[in-house]
Amino acid sequence: MTEAKTALIAGAGGLTGTFCLQMLLQHPAYNAVIALVRKPLPLQHPKLQQIRVDFDNLQTVPAADDVFCCLGTTIKKAGSQENFRKVDYGYVVGVARAALASGAKRFLLVSSMGAGAKSGIFYSRVKGETEDAVMQLPYEAVHIFRPSLLLGNRQEHRLGESLAMAAFKVVGFVMVGPLAKYRGILASDVAKAMVAVAQQNTTGNHIYLSDEIQQIASSVAD
Ligand SMILES: NC(=O)c1ccc[n+]([C@@H]2O[C@H](COP(=O)([O-])OP(=O)(O)OC[C@H]3O[C@@H](n4cnc5c(N)ncnc54)[C@H](OP(=O)(O)O)[C@@H]3O)[C@@H](O)[C@H]2O)c1
Repeated sequence: MTEAKTALIAGAGGLTGTFCLQMLLQHPAYNAVIALVRKPLPLQHPKLQQIRVDFDNLQTVPAADDVFCCLGTTIKKAGSQENFRKVDYGYVVGVARAALASGAKRFLLVSSMGAGAKSGIFYSRVKGETEDAVMQLPYEAVHIFRPSLLLGNRQEHRLGESLAMAAFKVVGFVMVGPLAKYRGILASDVAKAMVAVAQQNTTGNHIYLSDEIQQIASSVAD
């Protein structure tokens, strides 16, 4: 019998993170789930430990096997490119470094479609730089998920995303073959794929495009 694992999650209060946290709490592979939060989540569970942290000064985090990072913001919400970078690069790499120092083996990151350190688009460039920094860390495995538009019910209204979601509802079904990676994807499916991949015990760096994430999620029984 394989030993029960501990999961560490950052961004557990967000759209993808909420699903990821629920799945981790229900998954038999984990007997403990530690959520790094800036404000407590309205949730109690015997497996769950919430730890309030200051992501600007993240020194140490508890030991865990698998780290799930669903943390991120938008340039609009952050207020500036600099603040966006602080979160989407600084906080993510900070969590990755701290968890590795505490003995974590696997790091699973929600990045974004189009991420690339050489991208001409600031958002995609930051995402790419973050990916590169995380992949350079000596984890047993780093799994990067690059979803297209995330679908799901958000508390907060994001006009651009709402319009894109409406467009996907109209044309999404014709986006097949090479276009499949541009289709919107349920945030719950991204979370499902992350949790599934963490059980594979593969090593090295892996990047999953949106259509591949969809395939992994579809192969997982509910
Ligand atoms: N939206 C899309 O269509 C889309 C598409 C592709 C990729 N992505 C990327 O996918 C990832 C997950 O997206 P999502 O929409 O699921 O996330 P989300 O709902 O926006 O949630 C983001 C999470 O990050 C945390 N966070 C944000 N700013 C923070 C800060 N300054 N300090 C500490 N924590 C902070 C939030 O904490 P609180 O819970 O405390 O607020 C929340 O838990 C992000 O990296 C995003 O860039 C998004």
